[in-house]
Amino acid sequence: MKNVILCGGSGTRLWPLSRTLMPKQFLKLFEEKSLFQKTIDRNSEYCEKCIIISNIEQYFIALDQLEEINNKKFNIKNTVFLLEEIARNTAPAIAFAALESDEEEILFVTPSDHLIKDEDKYKEAIEKAKELAEKDYLVTFGITPSEPHTGYGYIEANGEDVIKFHEKPDLKTAQEYLKEGNYYWNSGMFMFKAGIFLDELKKHSPEVYEEVLKSYEKRQTIGKNQIRLKEMQNIPDKSIDYAVMEKSDKIKVVPSEFDWNDVGSFDSLIEEISSQEAIEIDSKNNFYYKDNPKKVISTIGLEDFIVVDTRDALLIAKKGLSQKVKDVVKVLKSKE
Ligand code: GDD
Ligand code: MG
Repeated sequence: MKNVILCGGSGTRLWPLSRTLMPKQFLKLFEEKSLFQKTIDRNSEYCEKCIIISNIEQYFIALDQLEEINNKKFNIKNTVFLLEEIARNTAPAIAFAALESDEEEILFVTPSDHLIKDEDKYKEAIEKAKELAEKDYLVTFGITPSEPHTGYGYIEANGEDVIKFHEKPDLKTAQEYLKEGNYYWNSGMFMFKAGIFLDELKKHSPEVYEEVLKSYEKRQTIGKNQIRLKEMQNIPDKSIDYAVMEKSDKIKVVPSEFDWNDVGSFDSLIEEISSQEAIEIDSKNNFYYKDNPKKVISTIGLEDFIVVDTRDALLIAKKGLSQKVKDVVKVLKSKE
């Protein structure tokens, strides 16, 4: 089985920690390791090979971080880097990886920016998924939802059978899904045979398939393990969720019980890492992060806030509202 690690996202949701050139998967927030490095270590237990697909601008940081962890299986010798010149979302990225693989090869597609704990249950889910992928299904991993989150895909299911996949519903719809009960969150990980994925992409989003194929033919191979993708401008920007998962009738779900956090906002990050110190006067329940260990933070009368201090930017956000960081990034981009 081959692990396809997606890591070309622009990663603005943890601004000011994450930046265009330093997306969240490369931030070393977890025991001096990044989510990307943890993904490699975790998945090398179950896969023999690895394809990392990222933007060309992220190549050196991904390479450095790969070399740094010195993983026995996923090392520079048996890892292929597919490097995109522009981001076109996950459907094209996965299609490139599938074209680079044998038709019958099982791909375990995973994001590079999630935190997963509970390895036993992870193993169980992977084994179950593999059985289904071998029978030519496109397998998703379902997480029991705890709130009507609108940033996730929802899998309407009857056991392992998928009735329908619904990508990012509005709040009202998500609330109804939670009430009904037979819905899972899509974890963003997938497993299928490379050839089956390409057939389904061709069937349901032929425009993505055709343009990916054209671009793949223009690829430039450098050395043994670096493939640069070219002429990507005509490829539609589409995620796998919209391009294939919402449309295919070959989908199965493995209800999964491992501890999963997609670290999509500071509110979810602070569930996983501890706050740094601050001098708090009449303050409580705050989270502090600072780049500069010598800087002293003190607060008076502050409650339920997230404070993130970096060299050139400071974020102060009320807990529960941190997903609005994307609005800050929008303002910053409009000023560029
Ligand atoms: N190579 C490459 N190129 N990777 C990409 C690109 C691209 O153009 N765009 C995104 N990625 C990578 C991201 O770095 C991330 O690891 C993964 O693909 C998923 O992209 P996101 O942008 O984070 O997707 P999302 O979080 O909005 O939604 C997906 O994940 C949710 C769970 O976290 C969907 O699959 C949802 O259905 C799902 O619930
Ligand atoms: Mg994500």
